[in-house]
Amino acid sequence: MKAATAVTVRPARRIRGSVQLPGDKSISHRYAMLAGIAEGSSRLENYSTGADCASTLGCMRSLGVTWERKAEQNVIEVQGRGLTLRPPSDPLDCGNSGSTMRMLSGLIAGQSFTSEMVGDESLSRRPMERVIKPLSQMGAQIESEQGKPPLRITGGHLKPIDYSMPVASAQVKSCLLFAGLFADGETRVEESVRTRDHGEVALRAFGARLERKNVGTGSEVRIHGGQRLHGIEARVPGDLSSAAFFLCAAALFPGSELTVPNLLMNPTRARLLDVLMQMGLHISVTQLDEINGELVGSLQVTGGTLKGAIIAGADSAALIDEIPVLAAIAPFTEKGIEVRDARELRVKESDRIASVATNLRKMGAEVDESEDGFKIPGRQSLHGTELESFGDHRIAMAFSIAALRAQGDTLILGAESAAISYPAFFQTLEALCER
Ligand code: S3P
Repeated sequence: MKAATAVTVRPARRIRGSVQLPGDKSISHRYAMLAGIAEGSSRLENYSTGADCASTLGCMRSLGVTWERKAEQNVIEVQGRGLTLRPPSDPLDCGNSGSTMRMLSGLIAGQSFTSEMVGDESLSRRPMERVIKPLSQMGAQIESEQGKPPLRITGGHLKPIDYSMPVASAQVKSCLLFAGLFADGETRVEESVRTRDHGEVALRAFGARLERKNVGTGSEVRIHGGQRLHGIEARVPGDLSSAAFFLCAAALFPGSELTVPNLLMNPTRARLLDVLMQMGLHISVTQLDEINGELVGSLQVTGGTLKGAIIAGADSAALIDEIPVLAAIAPFTEKGIEVRDARELRVKESDRIASVATNLRKMGAEVDESEDGFKIPGRQSLHGTELESFGDHRIAMAFSIAALRAQGDTLILGAESAAISYPAFFQTLEALCER
């Protein structure tokens, strides 16, 4: 992590321009892991520039995978080792990245050696029993600090599992499908609410066969162990959760005009676009393609009115990473935004319900906080002030968007945390703001 930096964000009049997003974080993690255990080489273009995805690459290197970063277009070339990784000589450093720790634990549970995974202060507070329990049932031995990192995993030959996930989590689903590759037979993972399916899509792109079907409001996925993967050539689509900040910024001003090429449009991620359109943002999709099973589109966006929204049930899981920025624009909507069923926000990089409520109140807004969400009335005016990022990238970026409509300047302390997912965020935002 870079040294602490504070960034001042000034109010804007509107958003104008075109923004090319770095590669999606969720897909980049999965591609790096699967490329490492594939046979042959992979070329990953537009790989995420965020520190989290660099943590995944660092861990793969420690596990004996050779890769090289090419100067042009954030290209990563990976030489896959096949399913057998090398015992690391030091603990695997997952940094701030829950995705790295949870998904990689599925791969190292299948290796016949012991390794340790560590994280920074924030990651060390995050729950890991959601992967410890099913991986232990598969036969891995895992020691932890009462369900929290560091994790010490002794892997080996795994038994298949039939597992219904108690918490809706795409990271856990991917972890178990990855572990399923090392199991003797068929692993089945069921989710009662559909979560992002990049793990399934990526496994198929690398040549794995798996079956997926809808079950009620959720789905089940089955995978057979012992399958060999092959390397791929891929271009990672632009990160939709990073685009969310600019889309919400555009939504703040009726005169905004924004073009977003090459954006991830996977239906399990794109709920944000529906919600923003229902709120009054005009979005047209000018091009749509499929690359390695992922939908990618170009958007033309113009500002409009800004009504309110209620986010609850399956929507809360589908929008989990975008809720902080939706909350940050909520006071400027006509009817406010209410979020329920989003208890998971409490165990993200920070307690995002508390971080959002603290910062909105510091800007002068009224917020009604509950255990699993909040209610933020509309038609409020905010004033610029000094805000904390709480070491959380999405909080730093979300409040720089609220700052665009505040009276006076806002100072974001700990702004360097944006680099976890989007190092160039503040420069890009500045270039899009008209004052
Ligand atoms: C992610 C899934 C979500 C999300 C996280 C990335 C993924 O977490 O919040 O930022 O890439 O699978 P959960 O798996 O905990 O829902």
